[in-house]
Amino acid sequence: MKKLFFIPVVAILLSMLIIESCSKNSSTVKPTTIGNTLYDSLGGTTLVADPAYQGAMIEKGRLGIRNVIDSTIFVIAADPRINAHFTVLLSEVGMKNFSGYTDLSENLTTFVAGATGAKDYIYIGLSMTDAHNPATNSRMNGKATNADFDAFVSDLVAGANKNKIPANLINSIGKIVQSLRSQVVQM
Ligand code: HEM
Repeated sequence: MKKLFFIPVVAILLSMLIIESCSKNSSTVKPTTIGNTLYDSLGGTTLVADPAYQGAMIEKGRLGIRNVIDSTIFVIAADPRINAHFTVLLSEVGMKNFSGYTDLSENLTTFVAGATGAKDYIYIGLSMTDAHNPATNSRMNGKATNADFDAFVSDLVAGANKNKIPANLINSIGKIVQSLRSQVVQM
């Protein structure tokens, strides 16, 4: 009689142990981190002082991207493979008129920020197709070829490297950029 009572008690204890250990396991599994975007990896929404505008704050992610964009614009300006597309910009800068440069820097930064997952900046510039069609953007000197696009990507990588962006993040940005090739190259 004692034995018959003992068996179900052991079975119940064993199953309690199994349930307990399973629930312990599931509570140690990390939840999917919602909001863990490429933008977060690039610095995210933490506000820091904006070195370009005294007294202003800027999200760390946006600042990191803007630094890369600004470096990239300088690399492009000196790159004979593609700088002829930017004659309007370059002649303005030559005359110490930086308004077009500031607009391009801001627009490109907002575009890349949005593409990497930023929520607090909304791109309101031209579509990628219109921005790269001389018929709809008089600042674009001639349509871009695939070779131009490749040169642009290598200049962007150079800009990212100047800012010590880790290789895995450059790779992820590269994938986003490559997905836009057919909108930029229109010939
Ligand atoms: C995926 C790659 C690219 C992205 C994400 C991109 C993005 C942009 C953006 C956001 C603008 C500003 C649009 C506006 O002002 O409303 C712009 C303008 C421009 N882009 Fe691109 N672009 C890319 C590739 C290229 C390539 C390959 C070329 C040519 C080599 C090029 C040449 C230009 C020029 C000349 C402008 C006008 C610059 C100015 O305002 O003076 N872009 N691009």
